[in-house]
Amino acid sequence: MPDPTPSTSRRDFLKLTWAFFGAAAAVETAGIFITYLQPRLAEGEFGSIINAGLVDDFPPNSVTHLTNGRFYIVRLADGGFLSIYHRCTHLGCTVPWDETQQKFICPCHSSEFDRQGLVTNPPAPRPLDLFKVSIVDGSVMVDTAVPIQRQSYETAQVIYP
Ligand code: FES
Repeated sequence: MPDPTPSTSRRDFLKLTWAFFGAAAAVETAGIFITYLQPRLAEGEFGSIINAGLVDDFPPNSVTHLTNGRFYIVRLADGGFLSIYHRCTHLGCTVPWDETQQKFICPCHSSEFDRQGLVTNPPAPRPLDLFKVSIVDGSVMVDTAVPIQRQSYETAQVIYP
């Protein structure tokens, strides 16, 4: 009668090998599936880094709304740039810039904000959020991935070309 031990051992080895490759295939399939489900941002869409235009497209003392990016480019009188999220910090309405009155006025509950986005009339609890601005090869780039909350206006928020 033959000894069953070597045969059992070989069978166990094959089982383990198949289990290993099966687990590896399952992990790889799960990774592909998760990657497939990730939202993809097209260049220039809200949530990505957006090229707002050339520095010279924005005259000093101007406010320009880029609706696809959901932000304003505010160029201050001294040439500095701010990028202000157009979402009201009260309950999230889109806040238009009133060129005549030179301020942001929320249509929902009348919060008002100055050119730098500071609250001049509540109920908004804090200034309008910012997006990170950088100047790259003469273009104004705005990173809309993460709004930057703030409690005040500081000159360090301003980016100069
Ligand atoms: S949502 Fe803007 S004031 Fe209420």
